[in-house]
Amino acid sequence: MTIADTSTIEVIPRNAFVGADITGVDLTRPLDDATVAAIRRAVLTWKAVFFSEQHLDHAQHVAFARRFGTPSATTAVQPRRWRQIEGYPEIFPIVYKASGSAYPSGRPARPDDVLLSEQIRQETFWHQDGTTLLNPQASAVLRAATAYRLGGDTGFANMAAAYQGLPESLRTFVDGLRAVHRLGIRDIPSEDIRKDIRAHPRSVIHPVVRVHPETGERALFVNRISTEDIIGLTMRQSQRILDLLFDETEKPEYAVYFHWKPGDVAFWDNRSSLHRGPADLGKLGHTAETDRLLYHVALLGDVPVGVDGRPSTALEGEPAEPYVPASTGD
Ligand SMILES: [Fe+2]
Repeated sequence: MTIADTSTIEVIPRNAFVGADITGVDLTRPLDDATVAAIRRAVLTWKAVFFSEQHLDHAQHVAFARRFGTPSATTAVQPRRWRQIEGYPEIFPIVYKASGSAYPSGRPARPDDVLLSEQIRQETFWHQDGTTLLNPQASAVLRAATAYRLGGDTGFANMAAAYQGLPESLRTFVDGLRAVHRLGIRDIPSEDIRKDIRAHPRSVIHPVVRVHPETGERALFVNRISTEDIIGLTMRQSQRILDLLFDETEKPEYAVYFHWKPGDVAFWDNRSSLHRGPADLGKLGHTAETDRLLYHVALLGDVPVGVDGRPSTALEGEPAEPYVPASTGD
């Protein structure tokens, strides 16, 4: 028998708003349609779901992700960069180095590694992935090859709940707003990286409230990394409205923190949630016995649509493209 038995699947929510553990399914094996549907329902409901100690290899990781969409060829900051996994270009490694000596698989550090560290720093702010693309990633499947016993947790927050938590008058107000998302350089200390981003500018106008293409749910679609200003307001007005919304999106009650064990898998809906990477890795690094290594596969998303039915519009840069593998054996 190579097909998972759906009768054993259990979805156990972490709290009232966000996050659920899924047990009773072996992701190393091909999944039947009913299991895929059950997992999809759980992701749409709980925004992020977690599978314990699955220990997927690269092929199994990609095969699982492809049951839910098309891998995106465009990673978080620049297209077609940081490709390090031989034979699996749709996998994006996320590395935190515990020691200065070796990188994954013992290869020596190289200049691109600095970019990875910078990317991880940006990841510590609450954000949706890829919002400077016209078509931000729909979802992502992240797996841990190694993890720290202490700390290193990833946060996930329910943006449909944050929207619903607003008073009706504010919901009506923000329903009509649109905002510019830009790949910013304000928080990047490296001049080299700033130069690189200036050379590949990307900016998009997205609705502040996004209507989910599968559920019809409305969700706040702003974040501190890329949402720069609201169309039609002064910079000062815009900043105040955005600060109000950022505070709402970051209320602790809408969030859950996931502690990684080696082999764990997290699968989240990037359209209706925010996530943040761990901010404590620098504190843990000196006590950590190994590098922290996660692998990320992003699934291609559609162009966001606002409450008024209008889609996002690109200002600069190219949209994300699908990654079409020659043969990954699924
Ligand atoms: Fe991210």
